[in-house]
Amino acid sequence: MITQLLTLSAHTPDPVLLQRAADALRAGKLVAFPTETVYGLGANALDDKAVAGVFAAKGRPSFNPLIIHAASAQALAAWVLLPPPAPELMAAFLPGPLTLVLPRRADCPISWLAGAGLPSLAVRVPSHPIAQALLRQAGVPVAAPSANRSGSVSPTTALHVMESLGGKVDMVLAAGSCTIGLESTILDLTTPVPRLLRHGGVTREQLEAVIGPVALAESGGAPITAPGQLTSHYAPNASLRLNASHAEAGEALLAFGNCFGITPVKHSFNLSETGDLREAAANLFAMLRGLDATGTKRIAVMPIPATGLGAAINDRLSRAAAPRIP
Ligand code: TXA
Ligand code: MG
Repeated sequence: MITQLLTLSAHTPDPVLLQRAADALRAGKLVAFPTETVYGLGANALDDKAVAGVFAAKGRPSFNPLIIHAASAQALAAWVLLPPPAPELMAAFLPGPLTLVLPRRADCPISWLAGAGLPSLAVRVPSHPIAQALLRQAGVPVAAPSANRSGSVSPTTALHVMESLGGKVDMVLAAGSCTIGLESTILDLTTPVPRLLRHGGVTREQLEAVIGPVALAESGGAPITAPGQLTSHYAPNASLRLNASHAEAGEALLAFGNCFGITPVKHSFNLSETGDLREAAANLFAMLRGLDATGTKRIAVMPIPATGLGAAINDRLSRAAAPRIP
């Protein structure tokens, strides 16, 4: 893939280039863009396949939930519930380097893969003028992790992005270095006392000045575990049987690839009939939910190759199949 590098003036961006980037995002392309914290790798969050592309480009070994970006705080109400103290925090800090984890609305249209199947969603309104203009023009929610290969440091210039992801993403918008240079603060509002999941651009003191006590997610000074690594991550109600060649009586089937010769069962989905791992990643969470909705007790899952995105898919499946924590 050839990565287009578009250089923009942060405060007076060329509208034609901006429109091209917004159109690309809407069409499911991967567009890296500057925010005030770090450069993000954006994908249309309504599009499972585009989101799967983000995980593929980053080389993430598992599906961490992604932050969903909007141009305005008003837009968030369509995706998440906003119980107190969300409105107070939004008024005080947005747009800006604060991400809020909130309950996902029942009618939320955002990709289940972007949210890693969780009942909550992390949302953020960046203040950088290019991020603002791009999000407004694209008119879709944008899932954006930091624009670097998994495991390397977050990029604060377009050059860092090109070094890390050149040839792996469609477009990089260059507009100088990020002013904050450190990721957004993540605050979890799904617990009775708000919990700080990641330190960042907004300090704990600043938050407490507005909403009172904030708990720290760390225990004993240990680093914060990324929620994507937790086994308590969304697991289907049904139990999973992995590496199945076919479904036994009473089982639903989550197939992968060519199913020629396999006896059809009442409830089944195919992650990708052509064996395309990106398509399979895009379908994974939605199909697990779909099979769960049938009320089936057990899902047989056909083997998925461990290469490329297959590593993340298998990681997720083995967590879903692990014994449940009561
Ligand atoms: O500053 C930032 O936040 C940058 C820019 C691009 O906006 N983005 C960023 O994204 O740092 P990322 O993917 O590198 O970090 C997202 C973090 C992860 O640690 C993830 O586990 C957490 O957000 N997260 C996402 N959804 C969550 C949820 N529902 N509950 C708890 N944590 C969540
Ligand atoms: Mg990151």
